[in-house]
Amino acid sequence: MLLLQPLIGLLLISLAHGDCPILFSPVYVVVEYGKSFSVNCSSTGETDQFGLSWEKSNETIENNEDIFISVNVTDWERTLTCYMYSNEALCSQNLPVTIYKTPDNVSISIVNHRGPMIAGQQYELQCDVHDVAPVTELAVKWYKGQTLLDQTTFTEDSKTPVNVNTTLLIRPDRADDGAQYRCEAQLDLGEDGPQYPTKSLEALSAEVHYKPKHSSSTETIIQKDVVTLNCTVKANPAPVYIWYSDHLKEEISSSVLQSSTLSPGNYTCNATNSLGTDTKVFIIKSELHLSVENQCPVQLNPQRAVVRYNGSVAVNCSALVSHKGIGWEASEGAVPKTSNSLIIWRVSHLTEWDIQPFCYINYERQCQVELPVIIYKTPDNVSISIVNHTGPMIAGRQYELQCDVHDVAPVQYLTVKWYKGQTLLDQTTFTENSKTPVNVNPTLLIRPDRDDDGAQYWCEAQLDLGAEGPQHPPKETSAHINITVYYAPNIQFCNSWSPLTGTSLDSYPLNINSVLGNPRPIISWRHKASSVNSSLPLTKFDSGQYEIIASNVLSNFSCSINITVEYPPELNCSENYEVKEKTLFQFPCIADGSPKPKLSLRKNGNIIQHELFFPNWTHSGQYQVIAENQRGTINSTVTINILHDSLNYFAIVALVLGLLVFFLILVVIVLLLRRNKRGHYDLQSVKQYEMQPLGNGGPA
Ligand SMILES: *[C@@H]1O[C@H](CO)[C@@H](O)[C@H](O)[C@H]1NC(C)=O
Ligand SMILES: *[C@@H]1O[C@H](CO)[C@@H](O)[C@H](O)[C@H]1NC(C)=O
Ligand SMILES: *[C@@H]1O[C@H](CO)[C@@H](O)[C@H](O)[C@H]1NC(C)=O
Ligand SMILES: *[C@@H]1O[C@H](CO)[C@@H](O)[C@H](O)[C@H]1NC(C)=O
Ligand SMILES: *[C@@H]1O[C@H](CO)[C@@H](O)[C@H](O)[C@H]1NC(C)=O
Ligand SMILES: *[C@@H]1O[C@H](CO)[C@@H](O)[C@H](O)[C@H]1NC(C)=O
Ligand SMILES: *[C@@H]1O[C@H](CO)[C@@H](O)[C@H](O)[C@H]1NC(C)=O
Ligand SMILES: *[C@@H]1O[C@H](CO)[C@@H](O)[C@H](O)[C@H]1NC(C)=O
Ligand SMILES: *[C@@H]1O[C@H](CO)[C@@H](O)[C@H](O)[C@H]1NC(C)=O
Ligand SMILES: *[C@@H]1O[C@H](CO)[C@@H](O)[C@H](O)[C@H]1NC(C)=O
Ligand SMILES: *[C@@H]1O[C@H](CO)[C@@H](O)[C@H](O)[C@H]1NC(C)=O
Ligand SMILES: *[C@@H]1O[C@H](CO)[C@@H](O)[C@H](O)[C@H]1NC(C)=O
Repeated sequence: MLLLQPLIGLLLISLAHGDCPILFSPVYVVVEYGKSFSVNCSSTGETDQFGLSWEKSNETIENNEDIFISVNVTDWERTLTCYMYSNEALCSQNLPVTIYKTPDNVSISIVNHRGPMIAGQQYELQCDVHDVAPVTELAVKWYKGQTLLDQTTFTEDSKTPVNVNTTLLIRPDRADDGAQYRCEAQLDLGEDGPQYPTKSLEALSAEVHYKPKHSSSTETIIQKDVVTLNCTVKANPAPVYIWYSDHLKEEISSSVLQSSTLSPGNYTCNATNSLGTDTKVFIIKSELHLSVENQCPVQLNPQRAVVRYNGSVAVNCSALVSHKGIGWEASEGAVPKTSNSLIIWRVSHLTEWDIQPFCYINYERQCQVELPVIIYKTPDNVSISIVNHTGPMIAGRQYELQCDVHDVAPVQYLTVKWYKGQTLLDQTTFTENSKTPVNVNPTLLIRPDRDDDGAQYWCEAQLDLGAEGPQHPPKETSAHINITVYYAPNIQFCNSWSPLTGTSLDSYPLNINSVLGNPRPIISWRHKASSVNSSLPLTKFDSGQYEIIASNVLSNFSCSINITVEYPPELNCSENYEVKEKTLFQFPCIADGSPKPKLSLRKNGNIIQHELFFPNWTHSGQYQVIAENQRGTINSTVTINILHDSLNYFAIVALVLGLLVFFLILVVIVLLLRRNKRGHYDLQSVKQYEMQPLGNGGPA
């Protein structure tokens, strides 16, 4: 426990190793900011000790078993690390945690424009999304009514909430007047993320101005019928109407006229608004004239002919009454007057654009019925190109595509559709009226983004000829153009790195997904304000803060990476080590290594609990000092000589002194004995003399 605590710091910055047997349950977390989550850390291997820490807060838990914690998310950038310590290895794993926040507000607006839009012109819508995280998982979707128009994702990399905006180019047409445009912001985080998008509070209600256009430009009316000549037509702004005719004394400003008050003839009505005028002719026919024309007793089948240019056509005309003759009048395929009851107008290669065939019959009088003919021609060639641009496009800039449609008729039935891949982007129709072939070249503005690199754009020209036309509307497709989109470099993950010595910077884990940019960025490194050769092996002195730079023709992106070069332990021990008995234990070695090695001591293969180790002289002998970290283990044998306690020296000194005193006394006694012999001196008599009582009345 004492050893483990200082290692937590190291573990937090070291990369998780692939073989670390730590298991999280759940394996990743998606949580809303401010909410809480729970996680369980366990191991498939054998462990001595577990720890789980939530960086920055001091919530570190340690245990011998699995750990279960519940965490409140109050910070955007924190790492939950589970680490594991066993005899063999120390390792850690970070739990992948995605913290999200749904936007406060999503709003839609038109860029640089107020008031109504004009049909056929291009406008830019903007969607603003406030305070959302993580923006990398955000998709903004554009809708017109219930129809999804487009969708945008973001390349910015930010874990914390940001405001973003995105734009959409639109070209509204008359049908879009009153359409509701809106945008939605959806965080795509799977089933643990928000399930519903945040919608723009108010939809943008488009007011589109368009000019009047009647569905047909003439109408025939019988004089006898009391009907109205109704010129009313939809347009925005609402049109004003003017009637004029040879049969009117003056122009009339009104949307309708009463037929009963009018004499036969042509009555023309102009419907006009700020964008233009559309003219419609009402032909009032007298009852007499009408009875002849309208009840002309022939029947055409079909009543309208749609023919491919140079194609064949056959239309029946059958007499409904007995007659004196029936025929087809036409510049090609005319049928002379005959007495048959069914005659066929037939042309095998119809090439006359203005042909106006009619079938006539002679009975009491002569009448005729005209056959409307539409001659169509598919384009010779449909091609797509980029206007005034070659080479790669740059993300976020605007470009113009042009679709060239050559030699098509009739243009009023033509629709040009624009595609990106399989997605219909836009379609263009034409208001010109022409029976003969024309060339058209509509354009489309695009603003490609990163995801459009490699996209294929193409256009398609289609003739919608109605019920009498071919079953499958004829279409011609252009070749596909592949666009290349250049975009600025970005590095998605700039994590700290702890490589082994000898590894080069080229081995820093970058993959195709973490480095963005087109052209593919070149990676370079800087350290201490100068550039570094990334292929050189790193030495143990190369740890520190590095700058990784991704560069391409558009710009540079750099971020800072802390690199800790790891290396196995190194031990420098003295062979013999003398230490006094019962002094504080210190390792007889200098240990180096990264991460800092853990030292232990063994004797005869047994681990010595050195914290409790107070050596006495009987512990002298050979020991192994073992240093280990994640990168390796090393040992060194040391002879430790434990010296006796210094108190024993005093005992020896005392003994020596005691012996010395004893010998001195012995010497004194020997000397005294020798002197007594020489002077007739008797020890006994001396003793007797001394024994004489002194103050007890002696021989005085
Ligand atoms: C944690 O995981 C262990 C082992 O997988 C399991 O026995 C335990 O019930 C889990 N605890 C919780 C709270 O999920
Ligand atoms: C964590 O501990 C450090 C010192 O041990 C202290 O300064 C800091 O305020 C603590 N932080 C929290 C969130 O408790
Ligand atoms: C999380 O917050 C809730 C309510 O604020 C509180 O009751 C709970 O104890 C907190 N949990 C942790 C692990 O801090
Ligand atoms: C849109 O976002 C860009 C950055 O992404 C910012 O520079 C710009 O000012 C924003 N535009 C508006 C109108 O908010
Ligand atoms: C004229 O036509 C419009 C629609 O085309 C219709 O709403 C209107 O009632 C008509 N007016 C008259 C007087 O019939
Ligand atoms: C009336 O209009 C029809 C069709 O536009 C045209 O054919 C005819 O010549 C016109 N009549 C007169 C008298 O202008
Ligand atoms: C009606 O419109 C046509 C075509 O725009 C124009 O030539 C004509 O002068 C207009 N007539 C009146 C009376 O406004
Ligand atoms: C394209 O370039 C030519 C010549 O550089 C110029 O005259 C023309 O206006 C440009 N067209 C467009 C649509 O920008
Ligand atoms: C466009 O790309 C496709 C496949 O990505 C390829 O088959 C085709 O040849 C390319 N076309 C051009 C004009 O480069
Ligand atoms: C990198 O190291 C510097 C200084 O040692 C420190 O300020 C910074 O927070 C570290 N960054 C990371 C991402 O660990
Ligand atoms: C010295 O160590 C031995 C064996 O570990 C032990 O039995 C003895 O009591 C120790 N002597 C002293 C003075 O600590
Ligand atoms: C010490 O290292 C040697 C090889 O260098 C090895 O054979 C031996 O097992 C190691 N001893 C211990 C106790 O780790």
